[in-house]
Amino acid sequence: MSWRDIVNEPDLEFRFCVLGEPVSHSLSPLMQNKALEYLRVNGRYEAIHVSSDEFHECVQHLIRSGFKGVNVTLPHKSLAAGIAEIKHEDVQILGVANCLLFADKIHAKNTDVEGFYKPISHLKPSSAIVLGAGGASLAVCYALLKKHWRVKIYNRTIEKSEQIKQRLNEFGEIEVLKKPSPLECTLVVNATSLGLKQDEAPELMWDEIHHNTTLYDLVYRESDTLFLRKAKNHELNTIDGREMLVEQGALSLEWWTGKHAPREIMRKAIGL
Ligand code: ATR
Repeated sequence: MSWRDIVNEPDLEFRFCVLGEPVSHSLSPLMQNKALEYLRVNGRYEAIHVSSDEFHECVQHLIRSGFKGVNVTLPHKSLAAGIAEIKHEDVQILGVANCLLFADKIHAKNTDVEGFYKPISHLKPSSAIVLGAGGASLAVCYALLKKHWRVKIYNRTIEKSEQIKQRLNEFGEIEVLKKPSPLECTLVVNATSLGLKQDEAPELMWDEIHHNTTLYDLVYRESDTLFLRKAKNHELNTIDGREMLVEQGALSLEWWTGKHAPREIMRKAIGL
């Protein structure tokens, strides 16, 4: 169904969606609808496909149709920050938002930042290596620096690592690496897009990893990615990207509804 065919359904108290291109693979509707059901909220969460060209028009249409908020995924996170009239501090700094709230004005948050950090909040901050230097990497590096981690960044295109360093320098210690060396790091994050479509994993100097290291893959599939399988073969601690999906979703739901999100229900809904 096209977003243009969406009509107002006054009976629904809460109506949300995730906007993206592509979006059909998203696990968010499954997870959020289970949460709404558990909370006995009269609401619905949908996945809506929209192109960048039509993003603004689509958001205005959703507001008119009674939506209370939306999540925004690739490639629209910059557009989401741009359309907002009131921006949370993280959105102002990063220039990207994954969550909009429609009230008197359009408000924007980036729940990816906190959502990424929650699954590793039990770790003592030290050094981390982040693989990749795209949008996901920028949010991850920022989340880590904010919590006083020292960040090393490796990307096949070194200029993009340098750009992230320049943007985030003021928030802490960030070093650009020429090779994917995890020496002295207790955390390794895959923030590349490798593993999404095929059985492939980012380059990493596995021989250098300390046994007490946690490997966190932002990419997720129904079963372990190659990156997490390799980590388990090395008997390392792992974190599945779906953990971040749950937390960013839970924070979004709480912001929109003011209710406590049932994280365990949401985790189960997506196979965790
Ligand atoms: P996102 O917003 O999800 O971070 P992105 O901005 O397209 O998506 O970034 C994808 C990241 O995966 C980049 O760091 C990219 O490396 P380049 O900057 O060199 O393009 C990385 N990536 C994608 N395919 C890769 C590959 N085959 N080998 C190594 N890195 C790859």
